[in-house]
Amino acid sequence: DWTSDTFIDSTVAELKKKIGSDKVVMGLSGGVDSSVAATLIHRAIGDQLTCVFVDNGLLRKNEFEEVLDSYKHMGLNVIGVDAKQRFYDALAGLTDPEAKRKAIGRVFIEVFDDEAHKIEGVKWLGQGTIYPDVIESVSVKGPSATIKSHHNVGGLPDFMKLSVVEPLNTLFKDEVREVGRALEIVETIIGRHPFPGPGLAIRILGDITEEKVKTLQEVDHIFIQGLKNHGLYDQVWQAGAILLPIQSVGVMGDERTYERVVALRAVGSVDGMTADWIHLPYEFLGKMSNEIINRVKGVNRVVYDISSKPPATIEWE
Ligand code: XMP
Repeated sequence: DWTSDTFIDSTVAELKKKIGSDKVVMGLSGGVDSSVAATLIHRAIGDQLTCVFVDNGLLRKNEFEEVLDSYKHMGLNVIGVDAKQRFYDALAGLTDPEAKRKAIGRVFIEVFDDEAHKIEGVKWLGQGTIYPDVIESVSVKGPSATIKSHHNVGGLPDFMKLSVVEPLNTLFKDEVREVGRALEIVETIIGRHPFPGPGLAIRILGDITEEKVKTLQEVDHIFIQGLKNHGLYDQVWQAGAILLPIQSVGVMGDERTYERVVALRAVGSVDGMTADWIHLPYEFLGKMSNEIINRVKGVNRVVYDISSKPPATIEWE
C-alpha cells in the first residue's frame, strides 16, 4: 500500500543513487508541486541542489518575499531573482492572452538560464511535474511560464541540455500534499490554491502595466485574506480577482466617478478540468465588495463570476 513515508524513503534513496555527487538546478514557483519536489531532492543531496525563485512581478502581494523566506527556513539553497522589470518590459503593449503567455515563458527561460549558467558543473534539472501533467501537459490554453513551454522557443538554452529529474511524476495532487505534510512543509505552501504560471498577467484583461498589477494585487489580497479570515479558503479550490478592461460610472459623495471594475472568482474543482463556481455567502461577498471599493483606489465596482467550467474557463484569459 502507498504511504507518504514509504514513498519518501524509496524516492530519497533512488534520488541519491541516480544523482550521486552531481549538481541539480531547479526553478521554484511557490506552489505545492515544485516545493515538495525540491524538498525531496534536498533530502537526498542537500546543497548539491540550487533552487531559483524568480519574481516576475506578476505574483500576489508580498508573495515573493514571504515564499522566499519560507524556502530559506526550510533550509533550501535558494536564489531569489528580482526580474520584475524584464517581464514588464516584455509585456508592454501586449494584449493577446497567448502573446502574453509566450512573452512570460520566454523571459522566464532567459532569466532561469542566466542563473543556471552561474552554477558550475550542473548536470540535472529538477522539475515538479506531477502525474496529471504527464498525461496531459496542463496547457489547456497554451504554454505556461513553467519550463514546459520550452518547445516554443528557438535555440535551446543551456539548462535544457540537462537531464531531467522529476520525483513526483507518479503522484496525484492529493498525494503530493500528503508527502509535503510528511516532509513538514508549512501549511501556507501545502494548502495553497493553484496559481497560474503567468500569474496576474492573465487576470488583467488587456495590456499589463505596473499600476494595474498593483491595483489587482490589492484587490486580490483583500479577497484572499477575507476567505482565510472567514474560514472559507480551504473550502475553495482556487480563487482570485480579475481586473476588467472597462470603467463604469459611480458616485462618491457628490462626485461622479468613472473607475475600474473587478470580478471575483472562486471555484470548486478536483483537477481544474471542470469547475463549479462557489456559492460564497452573500454577507461575505458584500463585505468584500465594500472593503475593496473603500480601500483600493481606482476601483468603484465589484462583480462576482457565477460561471462554471465548461463552458467558461477558470481564468478569464
Ligand atoms: P482554465 O482557465 O483553463 O484553468 O480553466 C485551469 C487551471 O489551469 C490554470 N492555468 C494555467 N496554469 N499556466 C499555468 O501554469 C497557464 O498558462 C495557465 N492557464 C490556466 C488555471 O489557473 C487553473 O488552475
